[in-house]
Amino acid sequence: MVSFSTVGSFNISLVATDAQGNSSSFPSTPLTISVVAQAIALPTFKSLPILTASSVNGVAQYTLNAEENVDVTVDSPDGSWITPMMRYNDLPLQPVILAKRGDEVEITVNNHLTSSNEETTAHWHGFKIPGVEDGGPDFPIAVNASRTYRFTMNQAAAPLWFHPHAHGTTATQVYKGLAGAFILTDDITQSLEETNQLPTGDNDVALLVQDREFSDDPNNTGRRNLVYSNTGASGMLGNRVLVNNVEMPALEVTTSQYRFRIFNGSNARTYDFALDNNSTFYVIGTDGGLLNQPELVDHIMLAAGERAEVIINFGDSFRQNIKLVSRAFSAGGGGMGGGGSSLANGDPFDVMRFDVNVETTDPVTLYTSLPNEADINSRLTEAMSETTRTFVMSMSGMGGGGMQFLINDKLFDIDRIDEVVPSGATEIWEISNTSNIAHPFHAHAIQWQILDRGASGGTLTPSKGIDLGWKDTVLVEPDETVRFIGRFDPVINIGKYMYHCHILEHEDNGMMGTFNVIQ
Ligand code: C2O
Ligand code: CU
Ligand code: CU
Repeated sequence: MVSFSTVGSFNISLVATDAQGNSSSFPSTPLTISVVAQAIALPTFKSLPILTASSVNGVAQYTLNAEENVDVTVDSPDGSWITPMMRYNDLPLQPVILAKRGDEVEITVNNHLTSSNEETTAHWHGFKIPGVEDGGPDFPIAVNASRTYRFTMNQAAAPLWFHPHAHGTTATQVYKGLAGAFILTDDITQSLEETNQLPTGDNDVALLVQDREFSDDPNNTGRRNLVYSNTGASGMLGNRVLVNNVEMPALEVTTSQYRFRIFNGSNARTYDFALDNNSTFYVIGTDGGLLNQPELVDHIMLAAGERAEVIINFGDSFRQNIKLVSRAFSAGGGGMGGGGSSLANGDPFDVMRFDVNVETTDPVTLYTSLPNEADINSRLTEAMSETTRTFVMSMSGMGGGGMQFLINDKLFDIDRIDEVVPSGATEIWEISNTSNIAHPFHAHAIQWQILDRGASGGTLTPSKGIDLGWKDTVLVEPDETVRFIGRFDPVINIGKYMYHCHILEHEDNGMMGTFNVIQ
């Protein structure tokens, strides 16, 4: 028995000496042994479950039961345990709803949060739907009550998502596990898939990334509780980063291109996703749909609420283990409170690992541009806008306790309408951030195009690359101004909607306003 503790190449042979003192070696040419690093075992990747619809008169009907105290298994590199969480339909993981542009959808939400005694809603994040169906805090669902949302999908294929939005409990309900992905397809995307210009099937993977903190388990009960703390300015930052409810999962992949739809469903954390071998990858889509042209990058930053679709090519990586990581970045707000987390916003960490264990021939040649008729190729220009509205995000009261998160110096008031927008209008919304941490600004109802961005008060730089994609959530850095332009659809957009910071603790604590789209 020979064992090696070092990686490398070694020559071995046996040398025997007979009674006469003649030695001979076997085999006569030494064996060369290669010792490669054995990757450490990691928990297995889990796919999000797809909800099945019942189709009634061509309408896809779904039920989402908001449940509490559901025993959920959490796998991590240091073992598995059970944690009571909130879940839709008692599922072990957050679900996915699949739909196609043009589909009529009806989703009934039943509020079973009886012992928490909390209102809930399901908000359709990134959807172009009427205000009354939007699931905002103005239409809460009481305990034991239910509500059916009805809408027709009328927008480009996109990685949309849904989550509770009752005022004051959004952050904790999302943290405890109520959220889901809503993957919309359309004819353009389907034809790219059918002509092998986008990966499909097992090569199309949804990643819901959320950070969490769990109690210790000193008595080895196999159970841990979620730990939630909201102190300081940062919002809830967990010290364990879960992908589809598994900490640091390993996904076995083949030597081919993969389409990853990344959902940042975290309460407050921004990720700067990159590969640990510094390989480049393509970003093909943003919050509201595919980019006209895939954009080659070596990292992509996603703030809370943002999504992106990326293509990673493992074609040259047979037998390698490649990590998806979040790189270090400066999150500002020095020492202003990491919420007690040992993993601050901007700290680097590993997210998951791709184990390239299977060789295959990749049928996919990635698309190079979308057809002209794709929504994203109708660019909105400054000249089309009738109105520019300005929104300033700020914080006050750093001196401990009573910190306030404001938009235009106002705290959210559910009875106040902050902006009135004429249906059919094309508008520029100009967002600035005078605080010292970044805030992801999100507006309901439409998908926006970013016009330009830059230092507040300076010359703004016109969008290029990833910024040319559809956006519903945009990270605005301290002292930065971002201008985006959007059109409120005259048929779809009517009623009240929210705009807010998507750091859910900021939203729940006042960094939100209401706009009313009127005919
Ligand atoms: Cu994802 Cu108003 O929220
Ligand atoms: Cu939203
Ligand atoms: Cu914020």
